[in-house]
Amino acid sequence: MGDSGLTPTTMTLRLAEHSKDREQQLAQIRQSLGPRSIVLIGLMGAGKTAVGRRLANWLDLPFTDADTEIEAAAGQSIKEIFAEHGEAYFREGERKVIARLLEGGPQVLATGGGAYMNPETRAAIQAHGISIWLKADLRVLLKRVSRRDHRPLLAVGDPETVMKTLMAERNPVYAEADLIVESHEVPHDVIVGAVADALAAKLGCDMPARKRRRKKVQ
Ligand code: S3P
Repeated sequence: MGDSGLTPTTMTLRLAEHSKDREQQLAQIRQSLGPRSIVLIGLMGAGKTAVGRRLANWLDLPFTDADTEIEAAAGQSIKEIFAEHGEAYFREGERKVIARLLEGGPQVLATGGGAYMNPETRAAIQAHGISIWLKADLRVLLKRVSRRDHRPLLAVGDPETVMKTLMAERNPVYAEADLIVESHEVPHDVIVGAVADALAAKLGCDMPARKRRRKKVQ
């Protein structure tokens, strides 16, 4: 291992990750996307921000986090908005901010877990973007959200009960998304690869990237 901290194995994987096939696939996705946004939806803990950031990096597109934009517009954290003004006020701000952000494609846009439940927001996403539901199971979601305590919906009551209720309410609506990608407990880049493959198939620019890439990894 040299100064870079990369072992030969990680170097091979990194090179493979940016293989010609993958680069070609990503370039085709970018081209086919036009001005549309790639919109990540799903429950708290689904990995929308982490996956979205990496996906944007792979595609060389801007990344936007709707919650961060809502906080910037309000000059308050989401926790403060909920505490001071209530959820309905937050939802109205969320609808407006996402409508504005969707005018700014192409980009990768991560939305808060409740955003897609608003019919106007769903219609706007449909009109200006491609929606991807990052679908994770209860155990994975709870493990991920337990790492931080900034989510007001989980601050009231038992997180497992809240999450189960939200899954029952929201999963049938999330299922309307253009694409569904499982968000398992694997490195984020694996999920990003699955998202890229799903996008390529949806946009009709599918490449056999995975098959060829595997050959290069010893
Ligand atoms: C919410 C999810 C949060 C945030 C707010 C409400 C929800 O975003 O928008 O706390 O209703 O599920 P994340 O999904 O990014 O945690």
